[in-house]
Amino acid sequence: MAQNGKKKIGLIGGGQIGGNLALLAVQKSLGDVVLYDIPAAEGLVKGKALDINQLAAVDGYDCRVKGTTDWKDVAGSDVIIITAGMPRKPGMSREDLLEINLKIMTDVAGNIKQHAPNAFVINVANPLDAMVFALHKIAGLPKHMVAGMAGVLDTSRFKCFVAEALGCSIRDVEALVLGGHGDDMVPLVRHSTVGGVPLTELIAKDKLDAIIKRTREGGAELVGLYKTGSAYFGPAASAIAMAESFLQDRKRVLPAAALLEGQYGINGYFFGVPVQIGAGGVEKIHTVELNDGEKAELEKSFQSVKKTVDSVKL
Ligand code: LMR
Repeated sequence: MAQNGKKKIGLIGGGQIGGNLALLAVQKSLGDVVLYDIPAAEGLVKGKALDINQLAAVDGYDCRVKGTTDWKDVAGSDVIIITAGMPRKPGMSREDLLEINLKIMTDVAGNIKQHAPNAFVINVANPLDAMVFALHKIAGLPKHMVAGMAGVLDTSRFKCFVAEALGCSIRDVEALVLGGHGDDMVPLVRHSTVGGVPLTELIAKDKLDAIIKRTREGGAELVGLYKTGSAYFGPAASAIAMAESFLQDRKRVLPAAALLEGQYGINGYFFGVPVQIGAGGVEKIHTVELNDGEKAELEKSFQSVKKTVDSVKL
């Protein structure tokens, strides 16, 4: 907690997602923010902090952002969101980032262990499921205090495309994407509804298949458009939803990469499933009843995650 009694939010990585996270955190009055990056990016984090603080009067929020290159400023954070690492460029897979981002994560996780071992830590860096696995191991965090942001983003993309296809309000779309944050993720069509009506009754199979494909390739579509990096608004909003649920004990049930210990037949890997996030971190892991086809799709997604994780040498 910050010295003024407000919650403290440590953001590791001052790039596009980090800046958006900082802005969202203060605009939602979640707490004071420390925006950390390495010394080479000092101007970036200090500039973003100053820029955001200067607009506080417009919205009238009292939370502040501090830009820093000193891990000591991150100490005592209630929640930490990691975005440090390289984004992919067109033609790359998330797995192509493994080697470079693992080096960065090793440093970040070691510093979290030293400076903020009690924080609830949310990872956004890719390849997401492998990075959260490494983070957990290196930082030695309790299993309920570490999670990966992905399912919230993937589910939000799925809902967006469904609402667009139907021309309806996104507020009435209930949907869920399970599995790893990769091209094999599993949008659960059978469990999705719009205003209580099953999705399968509203959208023809060929159109649904196209929506599933677009959801799975949602990150790559943006990489192709941006050309120099990957998505930042969606990842920031998704991680903030998780942080907010933790900081305000909202107990929201959100899809996130959590450490599974037998659920879904998976043991010892982080994988995207619905979890309850409250003051206790990942308080519950929920199991969704799946048919054989869905089980097979989830297994395919898990095998992709497992292959990447198993190649991680710590
Ligand atoms: C995303 O899904 O937008 C992120 O994982 C970034 C990426 O490389 O796709």
